[in-house]
Amino acid sequence: MLGLSAGNPDGSAEILLKVALHAAEDEGAQVSLLRLDDLTLPTRPVGPVAVATEDDGAWLWDQVMESDGLIVSAPIYSRTIPGKLKLVADRLSGPAADVVFAENYRSMLQAGETPPVAFPYDERVFRPRVAGLIAVGGALTTQWRGLALPLMHQMMFSSNIAVADQLLVGGAGMPRAVVLDAAALVNAARVGRSVGSQLGRPFEQVEYRGEPGLCPLCHLSAVEIHGTAVECVTCGAAGRLSVADGQAVVAFDDPAGLEKSVIGLTEKREHFVEVQETGQIQGALAAEIERRASVYAQYERRITPGS
Ligand SMILES: Cc1cc2nc3c(=O)[nH]c(=O)nc-3n(C[C@H](O)[C@H](O)[C@H](O)COP(=O)(O)O)c2cc1C
Repeated sequence: MLGLSAGNPDGSAEILLKVALHAAEDEGAQVSLLRLDDLTLPTRPVGPVAVATEDDGAWLWDQVMESDGLIVSAPIYSRTIPGKLKLVADRLSGPAADVVFAENYRSMLQAGETPPVAFPYDERVFRPRVAGLIAVGGALTTQWRGLALPLMHQMMFSSNIAVADQLLVGGAGMPRAVVLDAAALVNAARVGRSVGSQLGRPFEQVEYRGEPGLCPLCHLSAVEIHGTAVECVTCGAAGRLSVADGQAVVAFDDPAGLEKSVIGLTEKREHFVEVQETGQIQGALAAEIERRASVYAQYERRITPGS
């Protein structure tokens, strides 16, 4: 089991991660802590000729692929996650990590077909994985933390990693101050147990053990409202809004609405078909795309350091 530390070395996020990893060890997990500050990670993969010191992306990918579970712990920056964790999410998620892309590529390649849109795939994405999320901020008030956990889900849904628990902590204003917060330490241990005790379970059998939220799939409560229609900001599940006794009620009770969530395989399968169809349509227009795009390529106002 892998712990990803996205905070300052030995800071509050890393302390909560260590509490969680220790609790997971008590459940029998074999754990490692990976500090993002130890990685060299360019925004795009450096080609195969690169030496490892230029891009640790492939090594990071292998660490995740060889794990049965992960706990990600991050400080909250400007209401959300630090850029270095977003970069990790961008490098680890998307088509190359998507179980449905992998499933389709495998069957196309086995049938000797060429996929219209090609992405690398790794059979290890099918391995069941369980995750826990921890975000810790300095602020005491909720308006400084709303986008942290939603962004952390980005790392999980492509590879069908089941989030078993998540924790949002505030009030760690001074470096390492989370050690003063007994409840945060107890809850971080809960996250560790939730993950450590469920390693190896297939997605459908992983029990969610965190705080309940409005959405039954990601268990968070950030929603967009369009009239009486509601969409979960984190995972895209569709629900509805009504008013009862003067109170707004959000319900995700239609199975078809839940199938819209990117967490499920139904939406991932529809997305795969859409990507292939778009690839076919736009692939046939390659010359026209090139002709129109070259106009913008000629517009050159770029500056670079030292220019
Ligand atoms: C650039 C920056 C932005 C921050 N923004 C927030 C914020 O929006 N909400 C919050 O609660 N804390 C915020 N903080 C405080 C950190 O989340 C807090 O100090 C955290 O515990 C640091 O964890 P670490 O020691 O593990 O890095 C911010 C800190 C920095 C450096």
